[in-house]
Amino acid sequence: MDSDANARAYLQRVNPPEDEPLRAARARSEEADIPSVAYETGAMLRWLAGLEPAKTIVEIGSGGGYSGLWLLAGMHPRGALTTIEADPDHQALSQKAYAEAGHSERVRSILGQALTVLERLADTSYDLVFCDAAKTEYPAYLAHARRLLRPGGLLVADNVWWGGEIADAPADDEDAAGLRAFVEEVAEDPDFEAQVLFVGDGLLVAVYHPKER
Ligand SMILES: C[S@@+](CC[C@H](N)C(=O)[O-])C[C@H]1O[C@@H](n2cnc3c(N)ncnc32)[C@H](O)[C@@H]1O
Repeated sequence: MDSDANARAYLQRVNPPEDEPLRAARARSEEADIPSVAYETGAMLRWLAGLEPAKTIVEIGSGGGYSGLWLLAGMHPRGALTTIEADPDHQALSQKAYAEAGHSERVRSILGQALTVLERLADTSYDLVFCDAAKTEYPAYLAHARRLLRPGGLLVADNVWWGGEIADAPADDEDAAGLRAFVEEVAEDPDFEAQVLFVGDGLLVAVYHPKER
């Protein structure tokens, strides 16, 4: 093992480890070609969800349930995760993951297009909104997050590093364009206090502090 790998292995021993349901959810996601958040991102999601801790979370993009398990591990034990997924096969995998971890009763798993489902969720009711579905839709997720988050709530979004291509991706890369528009809009929005963390594929974290107008 080189020294980077040694350091990584060492730090993973002091961070929360992946338990068996997490390992199984990651393995099933890989097999089904669903990109999950990185281990480090998962551990960070758990930490963010545990800050207050969160009682209500919206996740956009359930995938195979890997990130959802991390959020559930961090949030309030009686808290509820609402998670949205457009692909029924992915939804089924994620539901298997929640069941294996004993969390099914705390999860509202909704099948549908994010932008349709988000319309139905109640205003000012969520402690954390996590975006990890269609990158072209991130700016629209931001508009929903403004409505859904309670003051002091957290907006979190994965993939803002975009494999190192976020700044240089060609103009016809619609995913990169969506991510850039999102990051810039959050950074310029006086109602959000944002920070991009160089964790996994880049994690944007922003606290929502709406100004009196
Ligand atoms: C990157 S994966 C999510 C991975 C998951 N968050 C994790 O880390 O375990 C993105 C997921 O979003 C779903 N998705 C893509 N576009 C969507 C949309 N418009 N509405 C709802 N789900 C969508 C995909 O089917 C896929 O399962």
